[in-house]
Amino acid sequence: MLVFVPPHPLIKHWVSVLRNEQTPSPVFKNAMAELGRLLIYEASRDCLPTITGDIQSPMGVASVEFIDPREPIAIVPILRAGLALAEYASSILPATKTHHLGISRDEETLQPTVYLNKLPEKFPEGSPVFVVDPMLATGGTIVAALELIKKHGVDNKQIKVICAVAAPPALQKLSEKFPGLHVYAGILDPTVNDKGFIIPGLGDAGDRSFG
Ligand code: PRP
Repeated sequence: MLVFVPPHPLIKHWVSVLRNEQTPSPVFKNAMAELGRLLIYEASRDCLPTITGDIQSPMGVASVEFIDPREPIAIVPILRAGLALAEYASSILPATKTHHLGISRDEETLQPTVYLNKLPEKFPEGSPVFVVDPMLATGGTIVAALELIKKHGVDNKQIKVICAVAAPPALQKLSEKFPGLHVYAGILDPTVNDKGFIIPGLGDAGDRSFG
């Protein structure tokens, strides 16, 4: 498994805004969206299908390369908080299809429950699937999401997980269960407390995004 934290000052900036308990909800949500934009940019660097050809510019013929609109990238935001991180996916990527997955974690048991599943019957063979969830804490939610996605004809190598903060328990589970997976994170934090919160983390990303 590859875990990549892009070394960019803008990523550090937006993570810092998210961490600050004084950040109000609309600013928090916007910071999450900006962070998502940068992480999705990085994650898409090596997997976008392109078409090449020649095109007539006002001044001459140029060789060009477009993103192939016939092969949209699948975006799977994990509701609720994943909606904020995935906000700009469809503006940074020329062709996307969004498949919402609603998963909530029980506050006592920390077990995930799937309450909405808009996954397609089958994902296109070999094409990228970006799974977007800000927090990888105990890992219960992301493992449940990936297990479900894999039932719809997806190989580990197709999947890129996009998150704001990842913690060791989640990364450990992912590396054991999904070899070959790529994870793009804004930052890696050291621990998860007994209530399932990442420390220092950024609090409850869903509540802070949506009030
Ligand atoms: C939070 C967070 C992740 C999950 C992480 O979601 O957004 O989806 O918990 O925890 P885990 O790694 O221990 O499973 P939550 O259930 O609070 O839902 P929300 O996004 O609707 O707030």
